[in-house]
Amino acid sequence: MRFSSEPVLITGGSGGMGAAMARRLASSGARVVVCDLDQDAVQRVTGELTDAGHEALGVSADTCDEQQMLAAVDQAEQAFGPLYGLVTAAGIRQPAAPFHQIDLDTWDRVHRVNVMGTLIAIRACRPHLVRTHGAIVTVASVTANAARMNQSAYCVSKAAVLHLTRQVALELAADGVRANALCPGVTRTPMIEEAVRTDGPQVLEDKLRGSLEAFRPGIPLGRLSEPEEQAATAEFLLSPDASFITGAAIYVDGGVSMLG
Ligand SMILES: NC(=O)c1ccc[n+]([C@@H]2O[C@H](COP(=O)([O-])OP(=O)(O)OC[C@H]3O[C@@H](n4cnc5c(N)ncnc54)[C@H](O)[C@@H]3O)[C@@H](O)[C@H]2O)c1
Repeated sequence: MRFSSEPVLITGGSGGMGAAMARRLASSGARVVVCDLDQDAVQRVTGELTDAGHEALGVSADTCDEQQMLAAVDQAEQAFGPLYGLVTAAGIRQPAAPFHQIDLDTWDRVHRVNVMGTLIAIRACRPHLVRTHGAIVTVASVTANAARMNQSAYCVSKAAVLHLTRQVALELAADGVRANALCPGVTRTPMIEEAVRTDGPQVLEDKLRGSLEAFRPGIPLGRLSEPEEQAATAEFLLSPDASFITGAAIYVDGGVSMLG
């Protein structure tokens, strides 16, 4: 048990990775605030946690809306007291398109959710984290540091998330707040299943053959990541075991990033 009832808010908390993080943190003794746009999924994940005997709160909020996020943080405080931790797992993908053809509204939407949404969540939680000397884990991506064909909006947004994390880590260091970026490789979640369904045949053609498993050949460890592996790292980064780690990018990618 790495935690003793510290409250942690997770944006995107009912998505594939966010829900795995909620389960992991709750099992590790944290009180979890599941925050997501998808109200039904928020209720489902929160119900699952409370049925298992954990303390959890579900809040439906758009991470791009500062008023909604401030209200979500207030609700969290009323239920559990000031937040100790924040994980920003809310994020969206882009439909595959070459940079010169990508629709600019798509570019803007991907950046709004992935970058500005991360900034807003951090800003909303900052006063709490300063009081508790807490910790932040942003969810960037292995693509924060590497280009991917026809994924310019997504990759650039994740590079921005990574650098935003460094800015936040620097600006909050004197307050005793740590911030680190988790950089997952391809992880078995609804986001990646949708990418395979919609873009696989068109963009990756033979390589993908419409199957998640076709991502495997480029991954040195020879398999996709499970969301629980990302959750285990987020738990570590939030915990006192990571007390001297801040401003870091932690790649949980089966070795993809070492290939450059
Ligand atoms: N799955 C992967 O292979 C992979 C790899 C690297 C990084 N990531 C990143 O991990 C994070 C989690 O992704 P996932 O794979 O679990 O996808 P997912 O689609 O299962 O979960 C994303 C969640 O974010 C929520 N969300 C989207 N827009 C929101 C908004 N405006 N406000 C609040 N919530 C919003 C969705 O409702 C969903 O529950 C994302 O930031 C994603 O970019 C995923």
